[in-house]
Amino acid sequence: MIINGQEHRSVSFKDGKVLLINQNKLPHTFEITACESYQQVAAAIHDMTVRGAPAIGAAGAYGMVLAAMSASDQNFSKDMEIALAFLLASRPTAVDLKNALHQVHADIISCLPDINKAKEIALVSAERFTDASAEDCRLIGEVGQELIKDEMNILTHCNAGALATVDWGTALAVLRMAHRKGKKFFVYVDETRPRLQGARLTAFELQQEGISHAIITDSMAGHFMQQDRIDLVITGADRICLNGDFANKIGTYSLAVLAKAHNIPFYVAAPQSTFDLNCEKGNDIQIEERSVEEITHLNGKLIANPGSTAFNPAFDVTPGAFVTGFITCKGTINPSDIRVLNPSME
Ligand code: MRU
Repeated sequence: MIINGQEHRSVSFKDGKVLLINQNKLPHTFEITACESYQQVAAAIHDMTVRGAPAIGAAGAYGMVLAAMSASDQNFSKDMEIALAFLLASRPTAVDLKNALHQVHADIISCLPDINKAKEIALVSAERFTDASAEDCRLIGEVGQELIKDEMNILTHCNAGALATVDWGTALAVLRMAHRKGKKFFVYVDETRPRLQGARLTAFELQQEGISHAIITDSMAGHFMQQDRIDLVITGADRICLNGDFANKIGTYSLAVLAKAHNIPFYVAAPQSTFDLNCEKGNDIQIEERSVEEITHLNGKLIANPGSTAFNPAFDVTPGAFVTGFITCKGTINPSDIRVLNPSME
């Protein structure tokens, strides 16, 4: 992604450190956070310095490299298992994290008893995951841009952009690619309470790319749909089940219901790492509950009634029946056809 004229990846590895674009500081400050231990990576995932399903997968993959570098020779396997569990516990909903961690862990363990080789392969494996993820997202852009026509008004939720992935984004890869092909369209950006990923991050990315957009509050979406001002909705996903149900940022389900009520196509863009073919249905997805202060406070200041509590599920589940299509690197697929992604299931 281009930020202030320079190419960046949201997650990278250099000189024995995991480098993260600090998403809590954007859009006002562009800062790179360097993690020197896997525990620091887990903390950065939990406090959302790095966020977005594919991006936390990439951060986790590199976290395993730090774990391999610091593991003791005597207890190497055990130390790797501890690191895997620790990183996995940082956030529960997005399956990309689990997929990335298991992939790198399996590659490391396959080298044993040669510990030096295991340490070397850790970085190779993590780089393979991140490069494949970036390429997957680029292809999502190529596939999805076909859906974007001149003069369209498109609504998106949360940040499914390059920041949320290694590069390109998912929903925003589609918009980025369409824009680069010269298409003219307008984006309605849900602000996305409570962490404001839309107002802060999606708006920032669209501005950097020169794409016309405006921020709306989450509760305005129905109004603009009713006024015929939205032609298409595109979101990302954090976990997509075998039956087409998927988890994404809280508020996605309401948007999908509204889109169906107004006959507006609702697309979900996602890389291979977001599909969980072992998860039968949405009810089986663990929804992360985050701290109540994210709702009651803004920038550390209490904005709600003192003494009232709040609820803060970070994600919701949208049934596959509300999805027009999943935009993937292999084409746009029907929610009832998810198993085509694993030929051995057919
Ligand atoms: O809590 P977040 O900001 O990590 O939630 C992110 C989302 O819900 C995104 O829409 C999703 O990860 C897809 S990003 C390509």
